[in-house]
Amino acid sequence: KKIGVLMGGLSAERDVSLKSGLAVHQALLAMGYDSTAIDVRSEVANMLRDEKIEVAFIALHGRYGEDGCIQGLLELMQIPYTGSGVLASALAMHKLYSKQAFAAAGLTITPYLALRRGDTCSAETLPFGLPVVVKPVQEGSSVGVSIVKKAEDLQAALDEAFRYDELVLVEQYIKGQEVQVGILDNQPIGAIEIVPKNEFYDFEAKYSDGMAEHFFPARLDAALYEKVQQQGLKAHQALGCDGYCRVDFLVTETGDCYLLEVNTLPGMTALSLLPEIAQKGAGLSFEQLVERILTSAST
Ligand code: DAL
Ligand code: MG
Repeated sequence: KKIGVLMGGLSAERDVSLKSGLAVHQALLAMGYDSTAIDVRSEVANMLRDEKIEVAFIALHGRYGEDGCIQGLLELMQIPYTGSGVLASALAMHKLYSKQAFAAAGLTITPYLALRRGDTCSAETLPFGLPVVVKPVQEGSSVGVSIVKKAEDLQAALDEAFRYDELVLVEQYIKGQEVQVGILDNQPIGAIEIVPKNEFYDFEAKYSDGMAEHFFPARLDAALYEKVQQQGLKAHQALGCDGYCRVDFLVTETGDCYLLEVNTLPGMTALSLLPEIAQKGAGLSFEQLVERILTSAST
């Protein structure tokens, strides 16, 4: 079958996606698959048709790629694709609606306030104290995210987040270990811990070698390690995700697993975490991981 690896795209994470996509495309070629790299732009439907793509491996991140848009187009064109469907993708990409679904499923989320462009907000009127984390509702790779410790810095953080989205979340800052759970074939395959050199696991720490330390397995006692994996699975199910994803948590000293988000199209770059979890937790090489994801493709 002719496989199209969809990469690039129109989001702020375009460059990350090109890295993920090329890594996937090369892995497929190395395994002997008939793979074509497709740089996604608005004329993607024509490209898929002209190239006679029969299966889509989605290596896009962020808006239009991870949020259900491309999934909807592929449904319409009846091309099987990897990963979650339209609704789960849209929900997972939306940090407000996904929180509501997580809370309804009994998962622990950080206290938050949602602001629409034009709303006013000051440190005194927040329902929780500083520090807070300010983030656009629909971005990935920590684009537009800041931690605010001083009241006078809040407005600048909001302005920055509103550059990317008309809805912004202000979340209570939770101090804890950054732990990410890998899900493959709808089962947890391990949890990794990240210790960023920067203040948090920001864009630079995510994609620059040596900017974050990784611990696998995450340094949690056995019961908590099991708990975070089960919470990861529950989050995957709460949104109706399909196949694989990576679920990000902050785990506190008191053993609470605060769910940050579900990434339905987690990074597949050389420094990305799902490939590392798959390697160390399930003994899968990058190629084997790609093959497992590919074989789960459906419409
Ligand atoms: N949004 C980036 C690609 C990730 O979650 O890995
Ligand atoms: Mg993300």
